[in-house]
Amino acid sequence: MMEQPMFSLADKTVVITGGGRGIGRGIARACARAGANVVITGRSPDPLLDTARELGALGVDHLVIPGDITSPGAIDEIVRKTEARFGAIDGWVNNAGSASAGDVGPMIDLDEGQWDRVVDLNLKWTFFAMQAAARAMVGRGGSIVNLSSRSGSMPCPPTAQYGAAKAGVDSLTATAATEWGHLGIRVNAIAPGVVLTETSQSMTNPSRRRRQIETVPLQRLGVVDDVGPLAVYLLSDESSWVSGTVIPVNGGSRIPIGLLTYLHHKNKDVEV
Ligand SMILES: NC(=O)c1ccc[n+]([C@@H]2O[C@H](COP(=O)([O-])OP(=O)(O)OC[C@H]3O[C@@H](n4cnc5c(N)ncnc54)[C@H](OP(=O)(O)O)[C@@H]3O)[C@@H](O)[C@H]2O)c1
Repeated sequence: MMEQPMFSLADKTVVITGGGRGIGRGIARACARAGANVVITGRSPDPLLDTARELGALGVDHLVIPGDITSPGAIDEIVRKTEARFGAIDGWVNNAGSASAGDVGPMIDLDEGQWDRVVDLNLKWTFFAMQAAARAMVGRGGSIVNLSSRSGSMPCPPTAQYGAAKAGVDSLTATAATEWGHLGIRVNAIAPGVVLTETSQSMTNPSRRRRQIETVPLQRLGVVDDVGPLAVYLLSDESSWVSGTVIPVNGGSRIPIGLLTYLHHKNKDVEV
């Protein structure tokens, strides 16, 4: 009998929120290469359909569930449709997140709307998606992977509320791993540094990009395919004794990039 390759997701069903674009798309692709049934969600139909075509070309069974994860009933719908199609959920990646350009600004000026948009998407709905995933996994176990950020454990100017939300995700990861371990449910988080996606590229400029690269010992920014393989590992049975961790993927960088940019602007006129 042929042995399974390591990190196989064959016969597993994995849900990836925000799976149409960016890091989520990279994770969907990596899960498909590992043989999973892949479910992708998100608001915009076109990127979801592009990703679905890619998943089809990789030969895996897949399902697209369009929708805004912050709208009432959206998470229940993901669970219901996934179970109806594939029977059960083995893995769930809470990837939908980010802060749009309009929600970035000095902490002293941030308003309630900017707080709510970012914290709701990145923290509140991650919490409820984790809860829904865990409820679906009771009795059989599973693996939940949250997308945190290096910003969750470092200063995060000029997007304080994003850093606070990701710090909250790290905390939820630790608590859920503790409360759900006896159910066979593992919970881990991935904390990327700067990964090139349409969103991250739209929020930077060449000089900022140069400063970002200078902080990375491996001398480049991340690409989405740097993150997918770690998600596959965390979703696979090979990580069956790994839970409650927040794993950095950042090219070895330990310098908070937002802080550097903040100091760069703040100190422009300071003579040294
Ligand atoms: N890129 C980085 O440098 C970086 C670094 C650290 C952490 N992260 C984290 O990694 C995750 C992915 O980031 P990314 O850079 O790949 O972001 P992205 O390119 O902006 O993609 C975000 C994904 O989430 C979906 N999404 C956003 N709001 C949603 C909503 N309300 N309902 C459903 N889906 C929604 C988007 O699809 P639609 O817009 O079509 O809904 C998209 O597929 C995020 O949690 C982010 O915080 C990213």
